[in-house]
Amino acid sequence: MKVSCQLVVLVVLGLAVGSAFAYDPSPLQDVCVAINDPVNGVFVNGKFCLDPNKVTADHFLARGFNVPGNVSNPLGSVVTAADVQKIPGLNTLGISLVRIDYAPYGLNPPHTHPRGTEILVVLEGTLYVGFVTSNQLGNKLITKVLYPGDVFVFPIGLIHFQLNVGKTNAVAFAGLSSQNAGVITISKSLFGSTPPISVDVLTKAFQVDKNVIDYLQEQFWYDNNN
Ligand SMILES: *[C@@H]1O[C@H](CO)[C@@H](O)[C@H](O)[C@H]1NC(C)=O
Repeated sequence: MKVSCQLVVLVVLGLAVGSAFAYDPSPLQDVCVAINDPVNGVFVNGKFCLDPNKVTADHFLARGFNVPGNVSNPLGSVVTAADVQKIPGLNTLGISLVRIDYAPYGLNPPHTHPRGTEILVVLEGTLYVGFVTSNQLGNKLITKVLYPGDVFVFPIGLIHFQLNVGKTNAVAFAGLSSQNAGVITISKSLFGSTPPISVDVLTKAFQVDKNVIDYLQEQFWYDNNN
């Protein structure tokens, strides 16, 4: 009798724990629209899996992250990613990495990662970094000046940036909590979309004249993500 009671308790606990872990996976790309026709059902949340018997070391390898990226561009920065596109073995593992190079006064402009928190370590140079909390928390700006060896965290989804405030090149590496964290560069998304967002929307949103929006929409919005 006593034994069967314990068994029932164990089974109930097991069910509770089991259901607590049975959640849906987070989105692994921007869109994954459902279709009814399985013939065209070639897109999944994430990527298809290779036959495990065919897996080799190269599926888990990326090389060249010791080589500085080319920072000769309008922003003076370049982000080189080691994500699931470059390392197929990252599929389903919820992690990736970037190398970020900065020219003197180079900027990684305000952007968000819709699917990943970022933890950044500075190897060389001096970076002024920051993120802004959501409306709910009063859009508080959180900033720090980072030196070699400093580690800083940018929480998932929040707008953040890094500016090289030193007179030399800077380099940082960052881990991201997604195989495909995604990047939304704020200026490029709002003023460089295809087709452009209606001027009526942007003049009201930014509370400026139409000519200011026209000017911004005419600019070339460089993408520093490799
Ligand atoms: C870096 O990029 C610039 C602009 O695209 C190009 O002119 C230059 O040759 C590149 N430098 C190297 C070392 O690849």
